[in-house]
Amino acid sequence: MGSVSSGTTQTITHAKRLSGWVAIPGDKSISHRYAMLAGIAEGVSQIHAFADSVDCQSTLECLKKLGVKIGRQGSEVTIEGAGLEGLRPSVEPLDAGNSGSTIRMLSGILSGQSFRTVIGGDASLSRRPMKRIMEPLGRMGARIQSSEGGLPPLTIEGGSLVPIHYELPVASAQVKTAVLFAGLYADGVTEVVEPHPARDHSEIALKQFGAEVGSRSRTISVRGRSRLAAQELTVPGDISSAAFFVVAGLLVPGSELTFHDIGLNPTRTAIVEFLRSIGGDITILNCESRNGERVGSVRVRASSLRGGEIPMEAIPGLIDELPVLAVLGTQTEEGLVFRGAQELRVKESDRIVAVAENLRKMGAEVEEFPDGLRIPGRQRLKGADISSYEDHRIAMAFSIAGLIADGTTTINDSDCVQISFPTFFETIARAAR
Ligand code: S3P
Repeated sequence: MGSVSSGTTQTITHAKRLSGWVAIPGDKSISHRYAMLAGIAEGVSQIHAFADSVDCQSTLECLKKLGVKIGRQGSEVTIEGAGLEGLRPSVEPLDAGNSGSTIRMLSGILSGQSFRTVIGGDASLSRRPMKRIMEPLGRMGARIQSSEGGLPPLTIEGGSLVPIHYELPVASAQVKTAVLFAGLYADGVTEVVEPHPARDHSEIALKQFGAEVGSRSRTISVRGRSRLAAQELTVPGDISSAAFFVVAGLLVPGSELTFHDIGLNPTRTAIVEFLRSIGGDITILNCESRNGERVGSVRVRASSLRGGEIPMEAIPGLIDELPVLAVLGTQTEEGLVFRGAQELRVKESDRIVAVAENLRKMGAEVEEFPDGLRIPGRQRLKGADISSYEDHRIAMAFSIAGLIADGTTTINDSDCVQISFPTFFETIARAAR
């Protein structure tokens, strides 16, 4: 598990109209967190609508290797929690596959274990920076070794930890989570200060499992050693996966798409707010609270879009949506520009390069900055041979580009969509019928 085959291709043609209800898989971020916390809780947790993504399966496989008993039937997952102190050393290294969330967030938990664990992943993960977690977890008392330059695999020797007060140098929910999860194993209160609010699913999930979590302004705190209790939870649909179809619905003339049970946590809805601010016809049809998360239905209708600049402070909240927003930028009146997104360079691929190169292949003009892109508007895209860079969000963003391009677009190494949205191509076919 944790890897997808390369060499697969998918062909996308110009769509006339998209309509109907779009089924979106369970939220990847929330699924990881529920699985990890259920793994160290006491009792049997039941998770409904668990993400069917390869990344989340990587998390389950890692937990199994640490002695957690997990049953899975489709999107129904049962986790017999080992308790805070009950994980067992893995005989083999843990494989986080392509998943930055798995390696970074699980490292927080591994830092609190009285045994040694090796955790690594695929070629893409092996290029992703880990110093950002090694530094705070090291300060808490974990001994972590990496490959040269702070890259995976990591060897983590955990033990009893001390609480820290940590100011995050980057707005990263994964790093915040690693520290908070390690904080569960520290005697006292661990505090993390964020430069900008990043997704707060960990805080919500920790509360749900019974941990003592506080949040004041930009500081989040967790009290160590509180016992976690098993839960029955339902994962909302992933707004970052829905984003591809939200953009498609706005761009393909005459379209109307509806999404149910979508996660509408305010730290994730910057995409909706930005698209509305430039003229997108997006309606939240209903919204309720479920397990502390906001969930609702969304309707999108084709719209003409002004474009403009994505405010810098919105960037951490829509970092995963920037590739598809860049595609959208080509169809706006004024084009789109964003800066302050240097994190894109260290995602599953260098997404600034991947987006710029592929847009150029489709005949578009684009200007690259170290930390962003400028995409002129009113550009006609032509079908092209696209490289996914084996990055799920690049494959999906350019599939949406294929729907509005003239001619045929080929997405190479298209199987990587399984990382977050295994039914992506079938879902396109259904909406375009
Ligand atoms: C995630 C946080 C973000 C995001 C990633 C998932 C999470 O990464 O890009 O897809 O679940 O916490 P960073 O924490 O590196 O910003």
